[in-house]
Amino acid sequence: MLSKIARINLVSSHPEVYDPCDDSFALVDALLADRANLLERHPSICMEIGCGSGYVITSLALLLGKEDSGAYYIATDINPHAVRVTCETLLAHGCHAEVVNTDIASGLEKRLSRSVDVMVVNPPYVPTPEEEVGRHGIASAWAGGENGRSVIDKILPVADKLLSDKGWLYLVTLTANNPLELCLQMRKKGYASRIILQRSTEEESLHVIKFSRDLDTLLEANECMALNKTENELATESSPFTPFSIWKYGKRNFN
Ligand SMILES: C[S@@+](CC[C@H](N)C(=O)[O-])C[C@H]1O[C@@H](n2cnc3c(N)ncnc32)[C@H](O)[C@@H]1O
Repeated sequence: MLSKIARINLVSSHPEVYDPCDDSFALVDALLADRANLLERHPSICMEIGCGSGYVITSLALLLGKEDSGAYYIATDINPHAVRVTCETLLAHGCHAEVVNTDIASGLEKRLSRSVDVMVVNPPYVPTPEEEVGRHGIASAWAGGENGRSVIDKILPVADKLLSDKGWLYLVTLTANNPLELCLQMRKKGYASRIILQRSTEEESLHVIKFSRDLDTLLEANECMALNKTENELATESSPFTPFSIWKYGKRNFN
């Protein structure tokens, strides 16, 4: 039987590239859990920002059925070694993607404007001193600056520009990143959000948030908001982050 996700023994590596870890597995598990919706959505362009070893973009291509899906895959990473390793991982699985060495999506914004249907991001989210952000090599894999938000806060406006009208963004975050505030911030831009996976490891509490800008979901979300909580109520909820899960009360089954 063909594997639906990348095989770890076929994932290439390099000392300066982030190996698949708990956060990578959480993101791929979230995509697997949402596979039926992804297949139903028939995405044309799928993109990963910060592809590292290529484990996630390869898994996405495999779970959507490689070429059969007709989707075009693009992955970026600021680390040139990651670009090469991702190409090797894709090749080892018989998958193809355009892999670009760039900062977030620099140079691609015009071409991809409002056209990415599925975006996946496992960003550098670890709280670190600000000066550690953007360093070359493996440090760029985790260094997230204050509250681990420096790179996330740069990625979200880019995602907003690139996502299509039916675009979905899957983002890995930590409790320290204040995922509730991220959801509220994205709601102001018109996105519904939902935690589709929550996982605690010995070291961290991870969330995979799915943001959606499509109208159906949004209408459901607004309806839910009216039925449940106001933005102010949500904003004053205390941590630990409770998924206010705009979709939670919706009619649609997302699993
Ligand atoms: C936590 S690792 C995730 C790697 C891979 N996606 C995974 O899940 O295993 C974060 C990745 O983002 C890349 N990265 C960091 N800052 C970036 C930026 N400004 N633009 C593009 N990629 C970036 C790092 O080089 C690293 O490969």
